[in-house]
Amino acid sequence: MMKIAINGKEQVIDFEPDTPLLWVIRDELKLKGTKFGCGKGLCGACTVHLNGNPIRACITPVSAVENQNITTIEGIGSEETPHPLQASWVEFNVPQCGYCQSGQLMSASALLANNASPTDADIDAAMSGNACRCGTYPRIKAAIHHAADNLKNS
Ligand code: FES
Ligand code: FES
Repeated sequence: MMKIAINGKEQVIDFEPDTPLLWVIRDELKLKGTKFGCGKGLCGACTVHLNGNPIRACITPVSAVENQNITTIEGIGSEETPHPLQASWVEFNVPQCGYCQSGQLMSASALLANNASPTDADIDAAMSGNACRCGTYPRIKAAIHHAADNLKNS
């Protein structure tokens, strides 16, 4: 048995230590917003936060996050109270198929939490591990700048 805090709620789980965190999030806790893409740490679809920093849940053994704080896309905002990035994503019509977008938002939200005024280069660096087969990169960048401006003016 081990404990993890997911989206602020303590969970007691019983898994082999090398089970990928992504399996626990999706199959045990039924938080389906975090996606499985490559399973090899290469695409970013499974991005969640570990103590506020983006990690790839597909290659993170659950034992590595014992007694720590994990945040998934379900934990950063909701339809009623969206994260400023989620509001910006809607405003800029960012998603196409949408599959990569929760991972994109998790990387973007970690970026803005650490850097209120990211440059294009900062965004490129922070988002470089998140692939989008639909090529929504220009809209992602514009939406991040817009959300950063909104946060500064709020
Ligand atoms: S599914 Fe985890 S990085 Fe691709
Ligand atoms: S919106 Fe389709 S993969 Fe990114």
